[in-house]
Formats: sequence, structure tokens, C-alpha cells
Amino acid sequence: MRSREELIEVLGAPLGDLATDGALFAEAAEVRDRTVGDRVYVRGLIELSNRCRKNCLYCGIRSGNGEVERYELTDEEVLEAACGAWSAGIGSVVIQAGERTDEAFVGRIERLVGALKRRSEGALGITLSLGEQTAEVYRRWYRAGAHRYLLRIEASSPVLYGRLHPADHRYERRVVCLEALREAGYQVGTGGMIGLPFQRVEDLADDLLFFRRMDIDMCGMGPYIEHPQAPLAAVRSDFTREERLQLALRMIALLRLEMPDINIAATTALHALHPRGRELGVAAGANVLMPNVTPEVVRGSYRLYEGKPADDTDLSGFRVVRDRAWGDAPHYASRRAASKSEE
Ligand code: 5AD
Ligand code: SF4
Repeated sequence: MRSREELIEVLGAPLGDLATDGALFAEAAEVRDRTVGDRVYVRGLIELSNRCRKNCLYCGIRSGNGEVERYELTDEEVLEAACGAWSAGIGSVVIQAGERTDEAFVGRIERLVGALKRRSEGALGITLSLGEQTAEVYRRWYRAGAHRYLLRIEASSPVLYGRLHPADHRYERRVVCLEALREAGYQVGTGGMIGLPFQRVEDLADDLLFFRRMDIDMCGMGPYIEHPQAPLAAVRSDFTREERLQLALRMIALLRLEMPDINIAATTALHALHPRGRELGVAAGANVLMPNVTPEVVRGSYRLYEGKPADDTDLSGFRVVRDRAWGDAPHYASRRAASKSEE
């Protein structure tokens, strides 16, 4: 395990040529091969709706952006997208949407998860990424059949978090949600953005320490990319886009070395900044891909940032697990076993 100072030293090394980090990335990839395997797991990403009650300053689909055409997929469209993924050999899906907490939405998700489970006779793995909810809602969705949940902390520094969000978005609440998810039984994923305005390499080192302290099972990190209709785009980041990409790869590699047996995604934002961004992510230690399987008619509307790839389903450059395995992180099983033996 590296100390905070050591993490800062690696993250703060001069940025430039992607090849300068070759030894770090190779070591991380080797650790990945030995712990979670040398093949990547694939999840089909279904973007259920771009309606959101939140107003994060960096995001293109924030509630304050009146220029977005809002959509919501029907249950039938979601079932069809999931079936399509299944036919393509994908054993698990991620249902993602902007945040909504009204009972109509909560109940709908509960029924939808149940329907997906029944339709697949329990075989389809279901991950949710639907923002902050009460512990009871998390439990309802878990009972309905979801078993993994993604909720990025975005920035683990409360001060930085405060600068990226309106005052009524609470950092503490997000941490409470991550704890409630774990309590409910989910495999818990978090993560953040890299190269944000106001962010320093010290903050990134603290993100890694936060992930370790929270004992997470999964992580998704990607470079921050400006969205022209989001207010944060008016603030300059200290890092160019190339530097953000390189820093994101360093973060993936360091996290793999710190937490060898978790699942780490090579995210779409890497792909948005570089045509081979996901390949670079895997070469730096990532082991999960989340190609978008949302029906094409609405795909352009879930625009969190500029330059999001229109089609990322070509996985020909990857060695992929094809047996529809859920691909749980070994970390989940070992932390469950450890907590049982403590009881
Ligand atoms: N750049 C990069 N990632 C973004 N996200 C939201 N807006 C942006 C942006 N401008 C990420 C957040 C969120 C995830 C769904 O997308 O980290 O958790
Ligand atoms: Fe909503 Fe998520 Fe965008 Fe924030 S980042 S505005 S919660 S969709």
C-alpha cells in the first residue's frame, strides 16, 4: 500500500507522453491478470431516462438545462434492450438514469427489476445507477433483484464537492447513501471525475484513500469533460484534456495496485477523449466495459458531456468474457466472508 505522499508523487509526476507511465500500467495490468483475470467483463448500459431532479454544475442533463429534450424509455424498450444484450452474450445490465425519488418512479423501478429477473429466469445480473435514495428504497430494489449499485462520490473532498454542486446537494448525504447500499447487501461501486476545475493531485490521492477506506467493490473513474450548457464549463481546469486522460489512467493503475480484487471500469469518458481510451484503460488495469445498449432513437439525449461517443458497442479490440457470467468482484465475496466471521 502506498502512503498519501507516494500517491501524490506518482500522480504529480510530469504529464506528457502516455508512454512515460508504461512500467506503472504494466504492473497494474499484471496484478489485474492475477487477481480478477485477464479478460474484461461486459455490462450493457441502459440509459432509462435523462430526467433529473439534481442540478450538478458539470452535467449536461442537469435540471437547470432547459435545452435538453427529456425522454423516458418504456418498460418494453428496456426489456428489449436487455434481451438484445443477452443475445450478444452479455450477462448483466446497468440501468442508469437521472435522479428521481417520487413513488411513481421508485415503484416503477421495483417492478421493472422484477420483470427483468422473471423474463431471464433469474439469470440476468442487474446493476442500478439511480442516484441518492432512502435506505428503504435501496432495500426494495435489492429485494426485487438488483445486486449491484453505482453511486459516484464524484469528489471525495467535501470542499471540492461543495464547489461542484449547488448548496442543497449534500456531500454527507452521499456518503450515508454509500453506507446504506452496503448495508442493504449490494456490491457497491463509486468513483469520480478527474481533472475538474479546482481539483489538485492531492485531491485525487485522497479519492484513492477514500475508495480504500469505504472498502468498495467497484469503481468507475473518468476524465472530466466540459459540457457547453453546464455552468462549470466557464471555469478553467488546471489540466488539458490530454493530461486528464493520462491522470485518469494513472488513477486506474494506482487503484488496481491498492485494491487488486475489485472491478474497475474503463469508462466512456476515456473513449470520448481518445479513440482507444478504453483500450488504454484496460492496459492500465481496468477489467470492466459498459457499452451503451440504449435504443438508438433516444441515445443522443443522454449527453452528460461534449463528444460522448455515439456507438461504443464494437469490442473487437478486447478479450471479453463471453459466458454471460455476472462477473462479481472477488472483493465482495471476501468482505462478506470476513464480516460473517466477525459476527
Ligand atoms: N464530464 C465527465 N463525466 C461527467 N459525469 C457527469 N457530467 C460529466 C462531465 N461533464 C459523470 C458523473 C456521473 C456519471 C454518470 O457521469 O461522474 O456520476
Ligand atoms: Fe443528475 Fe447525475 Fe447529472 Fe447530477 S450528474 S445532474 S445527479 S444526471
